[in-house]
Amino acid sequence: MNINLQEKFAEQYHKNAEAIYFTPGRVNLIGEHIDYNGGLVMPCAISLGTWVAIAPNSDGQYRFKSLNFDVETVANSNTITEKNGSIWANYPIGVINELIRDGKVINGLDFLFYGNIPIGSGLSSSASIEIATAFALNAYYNLGYDKLALVRIAKRVENDFIGLNSGIMDQFAVTFGEREKAIVLDCETLKYKMVHVDLGDYVLAIINTNKPRELADSKYNERVAECQTAVKFLNEEITLRYLCELSAEKFALHSHLISNETILNRATHVIKENDRVHLAAKALNGGDLTTFGRLMYASHESLRTLYEVSGKELDAVVDFCSGDEHVIGARMTGAGFGGCAIALLEKGYEEDFAKHLTNYYVDKIGYLPTIYVSDINDGPHLVTDTIG
Ligand code: GLA
Repeated sequence: MNINLQEKFAEQYHKNAEAIYFTPGRVNLIGEHIDYNGGLVMPCAISLGTWVAIAPNSDGQYRFKSLNFDVETVANSNTITEKNGSIWANYPIGVINELIRDGKVINGLDFLFYGNIPIGSGLSSSASIEIATAFALNAYYNLGYDKLALVRIAKRVENDFIGLNSGIMDQFAVTFGEREKAIVLDCETLKYKMVHVDLGDYVLAIINTNKPRELADSKYNERVAECQTAVKFLNEEITLRYLCELSAEKFALHSHLISNETILNRATHVIKENDRVHLAAKALNGGDLTTFGRLMYASHESLRTLYEVSGKELDAVVDFCSGDEHVIGARMTGAGFGGCAIALLEKGYEEDFAKHLTNYYVDKIGYLPTIYVSDINDGPHLVTDTIG
C-alpha cells in the first residue's frame, strides 16, 4: 500500500506538513520480562512502525489525527496534563506534557499519524508512537535532547501518565535500533552493545496470533509486583535491588527464602532467562544459530510454565515450530498474553511455513494468524512523504 502522508496531511489540515518522521517497532529476540528486573535483553528494531507529519498552527491547540482511527483529539496547554478519552492520543499527549514539565515551550501543533504495527500485537506500537512524537518535537524545535533522554521521557509517559509499570526495553529498542543489528542492553546500567545479526541461511519471521491482549496491562503489573516480592524475600539475607543482580549459583543459595511457589517460579524464570541472554549473545557472535534457536525454545517454555505469560495461541505457534524441521527456534516476544511470536526458519521455506502454520493454527484456534518476514531496521529518522 502506498500512502502519501504529505497529501493526506494537506487533505486534513489544508496546508503542508513541515516535516515527516518515522520510528520503528521492535521484536525482542530473547530476554523476556527481564528489563524491569535489571538484566540483559536483546531487542531489535523492525521495519513496521509509526510515521508522524507535523506543522505548527496559530491557535495554540494540539491536534492529533491518525489515518488509523477516525477520532480527532484536541488538547491545549491546560488539558495536556490529563489523559483524553481516545486511547492512542494519550501517548503523544503524555509526551508533550513531559516536555512542558521539563521547561520546554511547545506551541500549537497539528499532527497526523499513521502506523502499520498491529495494535496490541506486542511489537511496541505504544513505544513507537511515544518516540515518534518525542523524536519529531526534539528535531523540529531543536530541543537538544540526546537519544537516551528521549527514551527516558517516553518511559516516564508509559509509567506515570499511562500507568503501565514497564521497563525501558521498548523505548530503548525503537530509539537505538540499527539495521541488521541486535541491541544487547543491560537494563540496570544502560550499557549496551550492538551485535551484528547474520542470519545466514535463515530468516526471522514474526507471527501475530491475532489474539487481543485482554487484561494484559493488569497482569503485566502483577508480574512486576511478584518480582518485587521475590526481591523482598531475598533481602532477608542479602541486599539487592533487582533479581538479575544474582547469578544462578547465588540464587540457588538463597532461593529457600522464597516460600511462595508462584513467586519462586517467577524468580526462577528471571534468573535463568537472564543467563540465556548471555549465552544467546555468545552464540550470535559466534554464528551458532542452532544454539541460539535452542535458547529461544527454552525461553518460551519458561515463559509458558514458570512465568505464565503465554497462552494457547502463542503455544500453538511455538508447538508447531518445534515440530517442523525447517524451523530452528521460536518463542513469544514482548509482554505475552497474546500478541506475537518470532521464529527462525530456513530461507526459501517462508511460503510453505506460512501455509502449514496457518492450517495448523486455524485448526487449533479457529482464526487466522498473520505472518511477516521481518527485516532488522534503523531507529527514528526524517522521511520523505510517501510510505511504500
Ligand atoms: C513489554 C514492556 C517491556 C518488557 C516486555 C517483556 O513489552 O513494555 O518493558 O518488560 O513487555 O519483556
